[in-house]
Parts: sequence; structure tokens; C-alpha cells
Amino acid sequence: MSKYVLVTGGAGYIGSHTVVALVENGYTPIILDDFRNANRVVLDGLTKILGFLPEIIEVDVCDDKALRAIFQKYSFEGIIHFAAYKAVGESVQNPLKYYQNNLSGLINILNKMLEFGVKNLVFSSSCTVYGEPKELKEVSEDSPKNLPSSPYGYTKWIGEQIMEDTFLAHPELCLINLRYFNPVGAHKSSFIGEFPLGKPSNLLPFVTQTAIGKQDFLTVFGNDYPTRDGTCIRDYIHVMDLAEAHVKALAFLEDHKKGCLEAVNIGTGKGTSVLEIISCFEEVSKCKLNWSFGPKREGDVVEIFANCDKASNLLGWKSKLSINDAVIDAWKWELFLSEK
Ligand code: WQD
Repeated sequence: MSKYVLVTGGAGYIGSHTVVALVENGYTPIILDDFRNANRVVLDGLTKILGFLPEIIEVDVCDDKALRAIFQKYSFEGIIHFAAYKAVGESVQNPLKYYQNNLSGLINILNKMLEFGVKNLVFSSSCTVYGEPKELKEVSEDSPKNLPSSPYGYTKWIGEQIMEDTFLAHPELCLINLRYFNPVGAHKSSFIGEFPLGKPSNLLPFVTQTAIGKQDFLTVFGNDYPTRDGTCIRDYIHVMDLAEAHVKALAFLEDHKKGCLEAVNIGTGKGTSVLEIISCFEEVSKCKLNWSFGPKREGDVVEIFANCDKASNLLGWKSKLSINDAVIDAWKWELFLSEK
């Protein structure tokens, strides 16, 4: 009996790695993606890793009619909802695009779940809901949710509010918000990885693209932050650890006979600075990176990393891969892309 899981945005960076983890754990993922933010090279990569290509339904998650047809066709164990825009800077330039797509997509999914009696939903949330931590830089799930610093962050913040209000009205639902920290790296095969459309906004893809020559140089945004080396600190988590966390979250919801609503941090529990990422990259790649300091980037949080006790206690999940593993896998993926 197939355990169908709808993976919206399943052709994207985190989505595709989660599809691999789902198959390896006995689920049958159905990928919903309109490829607005995904590259079709992932299809070949998934086929090479899995030995087959999971079903892909090329529709917009906001298309109510198309979504209804999918729920009529499959009886889903659960939904993992990734499909959303995620570029912090772009969301400032184009907020309505972010509110329209990110919120309507989630609302559409929840409506179909209620209409078709699907109980389990894993929502792709973000540490961005914490904003700039005031006291402790190590945030736990009950740390204050300061106001986010971008419309992107607000779509996650409001998204969690939508999940909470829906749960209060329908307590039979089993809902979990996974608050990602900074996903990095690629599958060890190098057949799938991060595929930024255009110039990357995130650090590690910019590092590997600079090293391979796609970008001329890396600018480190700010050098006088109140941190150990003056650069911002983040909790960088290997994308395969993050993918495994989704499988654990789904299993938790399936085992939960009555309804539930949870929020869980998914990070490593360790902070790493921009300069530490650069030196780790130079060490593993033996490449000297062309970088220089530049002005601070608007909206950057100074320092944040996860307290992961709840993920361990509630889901039985802990990150296993190191920053080194992630940097090596990100670099191997960049080298694989350059050979194509
Ligand atoms: C990290 C650090 C930059 C690029 C991301 C995602 C967001 C969310 C959280 C999931 C910062 C510095 C970067 C560069 C640099 N993920 N940097 N030069 O801002 O933490 O947000 O993770 O929900 O979607 O955007 O990640 O990789 O952009 O920046 O110095 O060219 O690297 O200033 O300190 P961020 P990032």
C-alpha cells in the first residue's frame, strides 16, 4: 500500500533532497512544482539517485482547480509544503508577489486538506520568525518571535499564524512548523543541489560560484558586527540533515492519533561566521577565494543559531553532518554543474 506524500515545491532545493529522503524511508512522494523557481536538471538527478523519477505534477499550488484534481486522485498520508518564494532581498522590492504567492499557497493547501480529510501537514517555516534575537543568540521555540525584517519573513510569521488559527478551528489536524536555519550543501552524489536562479543571494552558493569563476568576487557584508570576528553568525545545516528532519516530522504526525500543532527548530545548534565559512571552503577546496569586505546588508541579523533540544526530544532527530561536509558537498555540486 503506497504511502503518498504531496511535496509542493518538490523540484526545488530542499524539496528535491526531501523527496530522496522520503523514498529512502518507504514513502511515495508526489511532486507538485511549476518550475518557476526550480531547474529541470533536478529531474535527471533524482532519476540517477532513485533509479526512477517520482510522479511530477506541473501546476501552481495556488491553482485551486488543479489542486482539487490532485487530492481527488491520491489519498495522501500527509503534505510537505515547500512551494514559496524565499529571497529576502527580492521580497523587499516586490512584497505583493510574496504575500500573494506564499500565503495563498498555504491557504489553498489547508483548504484542500479540510475538504479531503488529510490530517498531516509539515510547513516549511524559518528562523526568520525570530527576527534579531534580543538576549540569547541561541533561540529555542519559545524564544520571543520578534518582528521579521522582510516581507519574506512576514510570510513565514503570518504562515505560522494561519497554521495556529486553522488548528484552533480544526483541532483534529496534525500540523508542524519546521523552522529552518541556513540550509547548505548538496546530496553526496552531486546529482542534485542548490540551483540559484540568477545571481545567488545566499552565502555558500556565492562562495562556490566565485571559486568556479561564475562570479568575479565575493563581498563580505560588514566586518564590524559585535561577534567573535566582526562578521555575522548563522546556523548552517546540511540540506540532507534537513531532509531527514522532514521524514521524522511526518512520522511524528502520523503517530499522533489526535490533533497537534508544533513548531520545531531545525539547525545544528552551532553558529558559524562568514569568515569561518570562507576559511573552511579554502581549506577543503584548496582554492584561494577572491573576496573583500563591503558595506553591511540591510536587514541582516547579527547572530542566530538554534537550540535543537525539541527536535531531539519530540522528533528523535539530530543533525549528523558537519559544516565541512556541507562545504565539500556544495563544492562537489558546483564542480559537477561546471562539467555540464
Ligand atoms: C548569510 C550571511 C550575509 C551573501 C537565509 C535565507 C532565508 C532563510 C534564512 C530559510 C549573512 C552574508 C551573504 C554574500 C555575505 N532561509 N553574506 N555575502 O540572510 O541568513 O537568510 O537563511 O528560510 O531564506 O535567505 O542567509 O546566506 O543570505 O547570508 O557576506 O554574498 O552571509 O550578510 O551574514 P540569511 P545568507
